[in-house]
Amino acid sequence: MKTKGALLWEPGTNSGWQIDDIEIDPPKDGEVVVRLAASGMCHSDQHLDTGDIPLDWAPILGGHEGAGVIEEVGPNVDGLAVGDHVVLQFLPTCGSCWFCVRGQTNLCDMTANVLSGFAPDGTHRVHSKGHGVGCYSYLGTFSEYVVAHQRSVIKIGKDIPLDVAALAGCGVPTGYGSAVYAAETEIGDTCVVIGCGGVGSNAIQGFRIAGAENIIAVDPVPFKQDSAKKFGATLTSPSIEEAYDLVYNETHGRMADRVVVTMGVGDAQKLEAMMSLVRKGGTLVFTNVVTMNQIDAKIALYMFSMSGKRLQGTLYGSCNPRNDIPKLMNLYRRGELLLDELITTRYKLDDINTGWKDLEDGKIIRGLIDYSL
Ligand SMILES: NC(=O)c1ccc[n+]([C@@H]2O[C@H](COP(=O)([O-])OP(=O)(O)OC[C@H]3O[C@@H](n4cnc5c(N)ncnc54)[C@H](O)[C@@H]3O)[C@@H](O)[C@H]2O)c1
Ligand SMILES: [Zn+2]
Ligand SMILES: [Zn+2]
Repeated sequence: MKTKGALLWEPGTNSGWQIDDIEIDPPKDGEVVVRLAASGMCHSDQHLDTGDIPLDWAPILGGHEGAGVIEEVGPNVDGLAVGDHVVLQFLPTCGSCWFCVRGQTNLCDMTANVLSGFAPDGTHRVHSKGHGVGCYSYLGTFSEYVVAHQRSVIKIGKDIPLDVAALAGCGVPTGYGSAVYAAETEIGDTCVVIGCGGVGSNAIQGFRIAGAENIIAVDPVPFKQDSAKKFGATLTSPSIEEAYDLVYNETHGRMADRVVVTMGVGDAQKLEAMMSLVRKGGTLVFTNVVTMNQIDAKIALYMFSMSGKRLQGTLYGSCNPRNDIPKLMNLYRRGELLLDELITTRYKLDDINTGWKDLEDGKIIRGLIDYSL
């Protein structure tokens, strides 16, 4: 099938995404073809262009946050049929590896090769100008059609609008799960979110749904501080340093029970300042991507031990996507999880670079490639 997609031919050079004709192969064993309604524009895609996540191969078709309708089903697919509405998981879950069997499906061994550029079977499904094209997260949602492995596909109810469902592929579960699972929030907690974009807005919602009493949203952009209040923030601050006094006053000096960090690009040099927001025995969850070659995190380890704090990394918000994505859809149905409000601006695929510029300029919470435009 011929269509078009947003590709990087020189990742890591800030040269922007190029719209090219692409050819997509028919589905192979265990795969389906999904016609997408929409794709979210997660900051993780942009790391490929900036080089925060370096790639040593090209071209790559970006996009890992999508939802749509199954158009074709390949051989040996279980439980999926033409016409099903589906969300694409940005990390697949095989269901049978050591991690999946013990319930940590976000760490599934199948995820190890999502940046390899190949489909799970080690071949290419997308081609352009005579080159095999790698698909981000085994998906490549910056194309209206995606050939996806069934382990990356989760069926949802047809009552959920597919455009908002797209965000349930990455940003929503990652943010929500960072607050609910990785931070292990308890009723009445005082919580902080550092970086209130697409992922951080969902961390705020996760804290609210988990019963946090105070939710302090930290972001330098006034528009993000305003929108954070819509998602459940009780107080806002423009910086980590200024948040210190706020948290101190709110907790009478005890400091926050949980802090989730979802900045666009994490800053390892600010780790100690972030840790100072956490109370004794509290938890700091590091969700954001830090430039891969930044390995010199700054933290006072004596006080870290002596105050019994926990520093927790998380992938996919420590969710089990096949359990949590339908659960999130139910929270949306009940009006507890706001999804429509996450979408600030819709773009045609052709205008994707305008969307990235808007993200950089702090104008959007989530940009959406809307394939109906
Ligand atoms: N761990 C995972 O599984 C996972 C999954 C998805 C995304 N991510 C990562 O999470 C991060 C957030 O993604 P996103 O799509 O929400 O990005 P985004 O660009 O939408 O949001 C980042 C926010 O951080 C704010 N910010 C920047 N500098 C700040 C600072 N010094 N203090 C406070 N706020 C600051 C920005 O204003 C922006 O609102 C990215 O690094 C992304 O790659 C991780
Ligand atoms: Zn993402
Ligand atoms: Zn697995």
